[in-house]
Amino acid sequence: MKMKMKVTVEPKGPLRGELVPPADKSISHRAAILAGIADGKSIIRNYLEAADTSSTLAAMIALGAEAEIVKKGGSKGRTVVIRGRGLHGLKEPGAVLDCGNSGTTMRLLAGLLSGNPFYSVMAGDESLSCRPMGRVIVPLKRMGARIMARQEDKYPPVSIRGGGLKGISYEMPVASAQVKSALLLAGLYAEGKTVITEPFASRDHTERMLSGLGAAVETKRGAGGRNTIKLTPPEGPLKPFELEVPGDFSSAAFFIIGALITGKSELLIKNVGINPRRTGLLSVLERMGAGIGLENKREVSGEPVADIHVKHHGALSPFRLGGKEIPLLVDEVPVLCVAAAMAQGTSRISGAGELRVKESDRISAMAEGLRRMGIRVEEAKDGLSIEGGPMTGAGIESMGDHRIAMAFSIAALAARGKTRIDGAEAVGISYPGFFSTLRRLLR
Ligand code: S3P
Repeated sequence: MKMKMKVTVEPKGPLRGELVPPADKSISHRAAILAGIADGKSIIRNYLEAADTSSTLAAMIALGAEAEIVKKGGSKGRTVVIRGRGLHGLKEPGAVLDCGNSGTTMRLLAGLLSGNPFYSVMAGDESLSCRPMGRVIVPLKRMGARIMARQEDKYPPVSIRGGGLKGISYEMPVASAQVKSALLLAGLYAEGKTVITEPFASRDHTERMLSGLGAAVETKRGAGGRNTIKLTPPEGPLKPFELEVPGDFSSAAFFIIGALITGKSELLIKNVGINPRRTGLLSVLERMGAGIGLENKREVSGEPVADIHVKHHGALSPFRLGGKEIPLLVDEVPVLCVAAAMAQGTSRISGAGELRVKESDRISAMAEGLRRMGIRVEEAKDGLSIEGGPMTGAGIESMGDHRIAMAFSIAALAARGKTRIDGAEAVGISYPGFFSTLRRLLR
């Protein structure tokens, strides 16, 4: 049992100064997995030090990769050196792989393990045990993997006997970078090409990294936002690599919105990944009338990076959001709901049904929490509409979800009266230093 933590946030501002957000979670997961199957020593600088990415690293070690943390934390992040076993050198794990709270760990590893000719079992915490795995199991079975899971192959634990895969063409029913990445990892081991089409383009870190390692990955944009990725399995080994993980835009997003909704705020958020498949929030904020400055733009290890300058703006306009924009800001919707609560009018989010199957049901968690804070919210199956208005402090349950805990901690800054976040320890999933950074910037 994890200790439950309560944090009280007082309405206080402004947020002023500089911060460096923690390393990107998505890129860290992928770096650990790919380093584990590369041929030799890879160096990952600024590997995210948080619960989710520790689950992935521990799993790769259990599969035979050697990992050494050569530099502990600090402002430049920690460096992890991984000695990969080569594409075909992983070993059967002796125990269940514990994926903790991390859907990315379980889904990406499902792809990797399907390619490997041994038996493995993955399990997770209470939240992960309720998250749909059929979305990876169905296509991986089609590729030839033998996989079983709870409730007719839908929910964790997941057991896999891998090997003997063949490439397939697969139309993904939902845009999901986790599913796409699982199939690309399995595709590395398949006979023949793997072709994946997503209804809307999702984050492309896996494609970028695989290309960097010398794998043949081609991407083609189609009509209506469709996106097709073709992988030809490599003939030789995957090259080991050196990579620096940029800061996580999804973590920066909490402070971007925080600064926009608390008077006299001004923040410089340094070293943030601005991959266009991750920064849909910036376009919505622009529509809301907030100008965000991107400074010192550069490329780091194949990903675009910048410093983000954000200033309190005054009134925000309501927005409409849906369709192909959703995958570009899928993790930012909770904190965007907070911005909507502060806007002058009603904002509408649709096409976001995926939010119901994240670490919590984020549609109902946001609707319920905002209502408790005095905001009028209508909940739909695939989204919500939020009428901007004054917020009052309330008791909020994080539902064990890191992004819900952080979104309401930011909402608290603009509310009247104190807000108490129950289950605040969840921030450790992606942003262990969140509350200390918040306290420092409020000083
Ligand atoms: C992620 C993809 C997204 C996102 C998650 C991380 C990834 O999930 O919500 O936090 O690293 O690939 P889906 O693939 O389920 O959309």
